[in-house]
Amino acid sequence: MSYAPASDRYQKMQYPRCGQSGLKLPSISLGLWHNFGDVDDFENARAMVRCAFDAGVTHFDLANNYGPTAGSAERTFGKLLADDFRPYRDELLISTKAGYGMWEGPYGEWGSRKYMISSLDQSLKRLGLDYVDIFYSHRPDPDTPMEETMGALDFAVRSGRALYAGISNYSAEQTREAVRILRELGTPCTIHQPSYNIFDRWVESGLLDVLDDEGIGSIVFCPLAQGMLTNKYLENVPSESRAVKEHGCLRQDAVIEKLAQVRALNEIALARGQSLAQMAITWVLRRGTVTSALIGASRPQQILDNIAALNAASLSTEELQAIDEICFSA
Ligand SMILES: NC(=O)c1ccc[n+]([C@@H]2O[C@H](COP(=O)([O-])OP(=O)(O)OC[C@H]3O[C@@H](n4cnc5c(N)ncnc54)[C@H](OP(=O)(O)O)[C@@H]3O)[C@@H](O)[C@H]2O)c1
Repeated sequence: MSYAPASDRYQKMQYPRCGQSGLKLPSISLGLWHNFGDVDDFENARAMVRCAFDAGVTHFDLANNYGPTAGSAERTFGKLLADDFRPYRDELLISTKAGYGMWEGPYGEWGSRKYMISSLDQSLKRLGLDYVDIFYSHRPDPDTPMEETMGALDFAVRSGRALYAGISNYSAEQTREAVRILRELGTPCTIHQPSYNIFDRWVESGLLDVLDDEGIGSIVFCPLAQGMLTNKYLENVPSESRAVKEHGCLRQDAVIEKLAQVRALNEIALARGQSLAQMAITWVLRRGTVTSALIGASRPQQILDNIAALNAASLSTEELQAIDEICFSA
């Protein structure tokens, strides 16, 4: 059935500026790491992207290797663009990345110019696009000079294959270096994509300070700790969950290990009149340096539940302390 987006879609979302750049991101963005591969149901993928766009989510995050199989999430999104979203291309912010293993031989992963540009060209083909909005180095490469990887990002932008350059999973120190090199090349580093959630706070030990100093925004991935920071695992491990999927990256023992903390956090969320997923999103967005929470979903309703977090009151000092006590009590 032909698609017409909701006419009130821009009234439901907030669009903060990404650092000091001109780029505005939705406070909640949708990632296609899981549930958009060729092993997944295409009509469910379509329903999720439509639902997100109808609710004001303008940003969709991909990478060359998302699937499984690797590359298939980009193909899924390419088909959705062709079927439903072609008239709305200029309303969409589409990102992809290169860094992880994609093809055999010495040029199929990491951060060489050879790999980065070939991979981006493959991504554009799968997506059916002339350019992506953001192109990321997905991970720092210990063996390639940073100048070469940043040079590849600069070339991607100058050649019109991408509008903005970003880095993901770079430490505070690596970020300073990458930002300096990109600035010298004349293509600013617009965005950083690190992991961040109530359980995973590594960005607080330096990275967020560097981003603040440099005026760079961030989009944080796994804000729900892959589903652990939701009410999904409170009673058991449901058969329809990432923790039981063969290709999932969430281990059941990791879920079980955190259960007592998750239940305690859930009590705080309920006392605030929020779901745990909503509180986890309110928590990551409390910091100005975090421009967008990059969620995943397996069904449309999860997206709507998570977006409702934007209507919540900020966390009080007492609530933040109670959350910390639960996290650091283990
Ligand atoms: N740059 C990187 O290295 C990197 C690495 C990882 C991810 N990412 C990006 O970050 C995105 C998000 O990662 P993620 O999927 O792990 O994020 P997440 O938001 O932490 O977890 C998403 C999962 O949580 C569950 N969920 C979501 N909303 C829910 C709700 N309201 N109630 C109950 N369960 C809910 C679903 O699990 P079920 O599927 O079990 O229902 C969903 O698949 C990825 O798609 C990707 O774009 C980037």
